[in-house]
Formats: sequence, structure tokens, C-alpha cells
Amino acid sequence: MKDTLLLGQVLSFESDPFRSDPERAALWRRRGGVVLRAGRILEVGEAGAMRDKYPRADIHDFADALLSAGFVDAHAHYPQTGIIASWGKQLIDWLNHYTFPEEMRFEDEACARETAERYFDLVLANGTTTVASFCTIHPVSVDAFFDAALARGLRVVGGKTCMDRNAPDGLLDTAQSAYDDSKRLLERWHGQGRASYAITPRFSPTSTPEQLAALGALWQEFPDCPMQTHLSEQLPEIEWVRQLFPEARDYLDTYEQFGLLGPNALFGHAIHLTPRETARLREVGAALIHCPTSNSFIGSGLFDMAARMGEGHRIGLATDTGGGSSFSMLRTMAAAYEIAQLRGTALHPAQLWWLATAGSASALRLADRIGNLAPGMDADIAVLDLASTPAIEQRAARAETVWETLFPTIMMGDDRAIRAVYANGRLQNGRASSSAQ
Ligand code: GUN
Ligand code: ZN
Repeated sequence: MKDTLLLGQVLSFESDPFRSDPERAALWRRRGGVVLRAGRILEVGEAGAMRDKYPRADIHDFADALLSAGFVDAHAHYPQTGIIASWGKQLIDWLNHYTFPEEMRFEDEACARETAERYFDLVLANGTTTVASFCTIHPVSVDAFFDAALARGLRVVGGKTCMDRNAPDGLLDTAQSAYDDSKRLLERWHGQGRASYAITPRFSPTSTPEQLAALGALWQEFPDCPMQTHLSEQLPEIEWVRQLFPEARDYLDTYEQFGLLGPNALFGHAIHLTPRETARLREVGAALIHCPTSNSFIGSGLFDMAARMGEGHRIGLATDTGGGSSFSMLRTMAAAYEIAQLRGTALHPAQLWWLATAGSASALRLADRIGNLAPGMDADIAVLDLASTPAIEQRAARAETVWETLFPTIMMGDDRAIRAVYANGRLQNGRASSSAQ
């Protein structure tokens, strides 16, 4: 198969902009080239040098557009696609009123498959090439998720959501069936193509201690799998956890005491943490997943990015669709910026972009494969128009630095900024084909 050479502005990271000078953490080539071979990135360099070295490559010239690693959304609920932007509720009421009735529909295979297809079309249109998603309690919702992802060549993480209490009857499993179904699905999907299976208790209020223990035992059998759940999102939720688990030291302990805390754990939200919780999460190396559009939309609170980064946590960025109000990681970066501002910190554009790519990849422990443009990495690439609307164009025209060029797209951009998406080296976003030559 012929090599492909993508030409445009090229943004790649040399270091973590939270732990080095953000102005110097990235390499920005005004006219760069990325060579793709067999689903991987072969080389990244100056456009002229890449043309000379690979004269037989198929050239896709994107002119002034920006080539970046595809976005990595580290926490989402694909079954909530159809109820995104549902009005007027905070977490517990929002779950009972909108989410649980919608998730009950996924007993029907046709509903699961149709939603998964629609979800991944939306995700790709937004430049996202990896998601870590919850499915529903229904195994068929997991098969639908992985089938739709693998058909598009996407690297994804997903798992059957487990709950055996505090949800409607049609949405409950048991400790034993959650263990059995999760194990069967894990054995079927983990490592299949570009799929990873995540053991997925929804959150401790919807699992009995028996179910949490069963899933902890499963994780011990398959410790290289991620485990994803929710932690300390909203104050009434934390109070509810206190009542349900009177013996626990804190919310994190409701996972920890059942073997559900480890380096491959992904904790969504993690806003209202105690000093013991932050210290323990840091010690273990578990990841915190920041979901800023969700945190403002559902009224959850202000994640303290500067404090958590200062403590040395691994942190990913996520939409939390459909508690989050957008499928776009650009909108998500903008919300992260705004929440950090409300906490007194201005995140640098390099830090925001890193969170949406390499940072989330690192949270998922996939940083050796995705989240950056470098030789040997998977060829998952988003191509962005940095003047995609008149408002963005007129602001970017005044920019004096590369980061000033990018920041209007971060703050005001959406799917209109996405010109093309490559997953596993293949052009996936149909709208792009006319711009490639
Ligand atoms: N906590 C438990 N389940 C959910 C969910 O589906 N969305 C959000 N945002 N929080 C949760
Ligand atoms: Zn969530």
C-alpha cells in the first residue's frame, strides 16, 4: 500500500506543558508534513523534506489547516446521545428523569446499534478519534459500541455499566450477572482490534457492596484492563454515599475497600475531594477525568485543575456526553478554560490542547499509541481550519503568536473547524474528501 503524506501546519508535543514551559512544550511547523504507513505515523518533518524523501506518497495537501493528533475524550456515555441538552435538573434528578428511562431503551438491539452509529458519526465530525465510554447494563449495548467503533477504525475504551440498586427494575443486574456478563464481554472485546474493555461500575450509589466486591475480584483477574466510574461529582451525591456506606472513610473508600482503586482506574469528575482522597489517588496513580461542560451544565462544581496538577495527578479531559452539553473537545477545552478562570488560573492554550490529546491519552494509559504526532504512533489525526467562522477568522487574523492563532478556535470553535479526520491512517470524515487531493 502507498504511503500517505499529509501537508499543513503541524502541531506536536515535545513535553507536558503542565510540567514544563508551555510556550516551549510543543513543536509547531508552519509548513509541515506527516507521513502515514500501514495505520501508523512513519515520520513528521518539514513539508519540503518529507516530499523529497517520500516522492511516491499520495499527497493530501491541507494548505493552512492544522494537523493535530485526534482528540481523546476520556469519559462519555454514548447511550445518552439522544438526551444531551435536557433541561432543568441536577445530578440525581437528571439521572432519574432523563438518563435511566433513556438507557432502558438499550435493551433493544436496534436502538443500541442505531445510537452507536449516530454517536460515532458525531464524534468523528468533531475530530475525536478515541473515546472511553460507558454503555448500559445491556450486553448488546457493548457489542453495538465496539462494532460501530471498529468499523470506523477507532481506538476505544468501553464497558458494560453495572448497577444492582437505586435504579428502575428494567435497569438492574445483580452482583453475579454483572460479574459474568462483564467477564464474557471483556474476554470478547479486550484487545480485539483497537478495543479495550473497561470494568464499569456506574457509581457506588447504584451498586451494592456485593456487586462492588464482585467487580473488584474481576479486576484482580484482569488488572491490565481499565476500571471506569464516577467519584465526588456533586455534594448531594456525596451525602447519599455517606448514608449508603456508613462504614466508609469517604467516597473513594467505597471503591477502595472493594478492590476498585488502582493505577488503571479512571474517576470521572472527582471535584469535591478530601485531603485523604487526593493523597490516596495520587499515591496509587489513578486518573482523574475532568468533565467541564457537564460540571457547569448539571451544576456540579468547579474542578481545581491547578491544585490537582500541582499535586501531581494524572488528569484527562472529557465531554461526559450527555451530562456534558457538547460532543466537541474544542467546546470542552473552552469550558475547562472558563472553570479554571473561576478558580483563579488561566490555562495556557498549549495546556488545553495537551489535555484534549496527550493528557487524556496518558490518563487512559495509551500515551505510547495515541494523543501525539510522532513516529510509531497510531495515525489518528484531526485536521482543523483555524478560521472556520467569521468571528474566529477576524480574531485569528490579528494573532501575533501561534498560540494566539489557536486560542480563538479553542474558545469559539466547534465541528465547523474540523476539515478532516484520519483514524488508523484512513480518512474517516467524508466531508473532508474534497479538500484532500
Ligand atoms: N453519575 C452516575 N451516573 C452518571 C452519569 O450518567 N452522568 C454523570 N454526569 N454522572 C453520573
Ligand atoms: Zn459520566
